[in-house]
Amino acid sequence: MKKVFLFIFLLAAGSFILTGCGDSGNKKSGEATTTKVEKKVEKKVEKTFAANLENGKAVYGKVCIACHMTGVAGAPALKDKTRWEEIAQKDMKTLHHDAIKGFTGKHGVMPPRGTCTDCSDQDLYDAVAYMLKTAGVTAKQ
Ligand code: HEC
Repeated sequence: MKKVFLFIFLLAAGSFILTGCGDSGNKKSGEATTTKVEKKVEKKVEKTFAANLENGKAVYGKVCIACHMTGVAGAPALKDKTRWEEIAQKDMKTLHHDAIKGFTGKHGVMPPRGTCTDCSDQDLYDAVAYMLKTAGVTAKQ
């Protein structure tokens, strides 16, 4: 009988350890994804863009909305005009660059491409333009 208890105990301890490993494994794979994104955005952006607000709205609705609608994780919510007025002090090129490369400011971390690995530079430009417009601000070109 004692052996049975020992067996159950070991089983429980084993699954506890396994769960622990599973968690750290998840973290690692998360890090790997970030590195991949960063590599992908290493290309230089010197092209000039013209904003397609319809596309920007679609990209925003698919990706950026997760943080920028209500201001998750320190993201400026679209209705937070004070924050956007400050953001619009930077020019469009800088904001586009920040959306591509990611940006860490005093409020939080904007992930590279807003986590959207299959968004093109144009998609991100459009989304930034759409967000500025919706927030009611304009940034210099
Ligand atoms: C995981 C949350 C998250 C997602 C998703 C996200 N953002 Fe952000 N974004 C942030 C945070 C947080 C900041 C504020 C950083 C700060 O100022 O401290 C930010 C700031 C910005 C800024 C201002 C950058 C600057 O230089 O001040 C722009 C532009 C921006 N995001 C565009 C986008 C676009 C476009 C998308 C969708 C493609 C997007 N974000 C998706 C979290 C997010």
